[in-house]
Amino acid sequence: MEIPSRLVLAPMAGVSVQAFRRQGRRFGAGLVCSEMVSCAGIEHRNERTLGYLRVAADEHPLAIQIFGSEPRTMAEAARMVEAAGAALIDINFGCPVRKVTKTGAGATLLDDPERACRIVSAVAEAATVPVTVKMRRGLRDGSRTCLEVGPRLVEAGAAALTLHPRSAHQMYTGTADHSLTAELVDLVPVPVIASGDVTSRADAQAVLDRTGAAAVMVGRAAQGNPWALREILDPDAPPPTREEVVAELILFMRETVRELGERRATSFLKKFYGWYLGHGRFPRPFKQELVQLATLEEVELRLLAAAPGAHEVLDRLEAELPSGDDVLLDLPISIYGGG
Ligand SMILES: Cc1cc2nc3c(=O)[nH]c(=O)nc-3n(C[C@H](O)[C@H](O)[C@H](O)COP(=O)(O)O)c2cc1C
Repeated sequence: MEIPSRLVLAPMAGVSVQAFRRQGRRFGAGLVCSEMVSCAGIEHRNERTLGYLRVAADEHPLAIQIFGSEPRTMAEAARMVEAAGAALIDINFGCPVRKVTKTGAGATLLDDPERACRIVSAVAEAATVPVTVKMRRGLRDGSRTCLEVGPRLVEAGAAALTLHPRSAHQMYTGTADHSLTAELVDLVPVPVIASGDVTSRADAQAVLDRTGAAAVMVGRAAQGNPWALREILDPDAPPPTREEVVAELILFMRETVRELGERRATSFLKKFYGWYLGHGRFPRPFKQELVQLATLEEVELRLLAAAPGAHEVLDRLEAELPSGDDVLLDLPISIYGGG
């Protein structure tokens, strides 16, 4: 499978909704990922979980990431994910959050390589699309587990590996140690994607040069800031104008409402205001003001009042997007659980 650029948009729970992924593709990410989806949720046809499996036509190539601890349910989930239209199935062996690790899923599987391999081979057998794995360096600080487990996962069927070289214990503190990424690249015959602390073109270039990785993955730097992706790909790209920022935020809000419904979107979007309006783009109290408004309609009006020229940019953006019916792929109705 060919990825059109060496830049991947990271899977982020609570962030990587379809609107985020489609925007990432527009700004040059060669591959975008869903947030991690629970295989137990898929097995039980949980309405909200199935909502994560909605794939838009213009977000391809898309990886859908699944997590779980049972090879059989992971394989079953993989079949659903493939039917939903994923170009890749990614398996999460990196999540450090207790709610996930206590079920034996996520990063804990790095300490149980046999089970991890059984999961990968069950998923690879069930799927016809490539299966990839995203992992951390190991559970404990200083761990080099990823270097032992990585090659075994490839033997079990992983077609690429993404490494976020922090320990699970570290969560997001400290720095990503990409010397491990370089070692992993030397050990495995498949593409390795480097994740962690890439925020600029200079970082991306340094990590690619230093590790020999096939691509870099960008997460937090792209939250409310798709221009980070554009800057990484094009050193001459100008910073966004205030009008562009407001137009992208409003488009993101509208798309998110379409996806999550007004009620869920209203609380989901609150964290994005600061992310979009920060970076010295708008004064800080402006964000506070938006968060306190009761409806998204009021937020839109306030944003447009702050940057009236955004109307025009927004009209242009909306005209360029494929319209409603073209967006959702023609898939089995059973997966559209709503939510
Ligand atoms: C809010 C948040 C949610 C995340 N959720 C996931 C997830 O669902 N699956 C996953 O593999 N990684 C997840 N990650 C980790 C990121 O994909 C990425 O590896 C990590 O943030 C390091 O990259 P960065 O420095 O570019 O942010 C998450 C990170 C953040 C900040």
